[in-house]
Amino acid sequence: MSDSHTQKPDLVTQLLPIEFRSISFNKSGNRLINNLSLTINSLGITIILGPNGAGKSILLRLLHGLDKPDFGDILFKDIAANYAIKRKQAMVFQNAVMLRRSVKDNLAFVANLHASKQEPDLLALLDEVGLYDKQHMPARRLSGGEKQRLSLARALVAEPELLLLDEPTASLDPYSVQMIESLLTKLQRRNTKIIFITHDLNQARRLAEDVIFMHKGRLESFQSAEDFFKNPNSKFAEAFIEGKLIF
Ligand SMILES: Nc1ncnc2c1ncn2[C@@H]1O[C@H](COP(=O)(O)OP(=O)(O)O)[C@@H](O)[C@H]1O
Ligand SMILES: [Mg+2]
Repeated sequence: MSDSHTQKPDLVTQLLPIEFRSISFNKSGNRLINNLSLTINSLGITIILGPNGAGKSILLRLLHGLDKPDFGDILFKDIAANYAIKRKQAMVFQNAVMLRRSVKDNLAFVANLHASKQEPDLLALLDEVGLYDKQHMPARRLSGGEKQRLSLARALVAEPELLLLDEPTASLDPYSVQMIESLLTKLQRRNTKIIFITHDLNQARRLAEDVIFMHKGRLESFQSAEDFFKNPNSKFAEAFIEGKLIF
């Protein structure tokens, strides 16, 4: 990544704490997020865990402003998201959609929205996600892992201070998983706040500073990763860690 991608010492003062205040979200008469309150205040990686259908993706979408809660507020350092705050955050989705153009032009397309980005910046980013040699290839021909790495590179063009990822490494090849994990670790050290969903407990053990555990639209526990894996304060979380099916 370019030298311009430097530490963000002001992150703490600008975005954190992130506070969910009594959030509920309904669809078709179902309460998909149920009175959830939570304050995220660490600079480490926050991982969201929980069984399928727990509401993890919805929570991330609400945080990114893609959906609006029916009740409650989401606050960034005591204020509701505004344009300045939204500009600081980026999201990587589970199924990356590639434009029908080359790998490099997929990045350039996003970079056009960020006029300060020059060609060398884009090539440095491609190098960082291991796609420098494939820059001229049609993006849609990339493997799943390569697409996800390009998707991450696209999110990084904006140099987000808050990076949200929805199962970024689900069913990817080990090389891509490792590359994405090491990139996330590097970004976190540069003070990018990272919140991501995974169903891979080992990945959570490797990367998480704290863990949000959800079940049926509710927050079951929010603990440091160390406490969560040693002494989860929810029986559902305990069962989940033991690999049991939970209903
Ligand atoms: N637009 C929608 N309309 C109705 N139900 C939805 C909608 N989006 C998600 N759901 C339901 O909400 C629940 C939580 O979804 P989601 O956040 O995607 O779960 P996950 O924890 O697996 O990411 C699921 O049961 C899902 O079927
Ligand atoms: Mg999901």
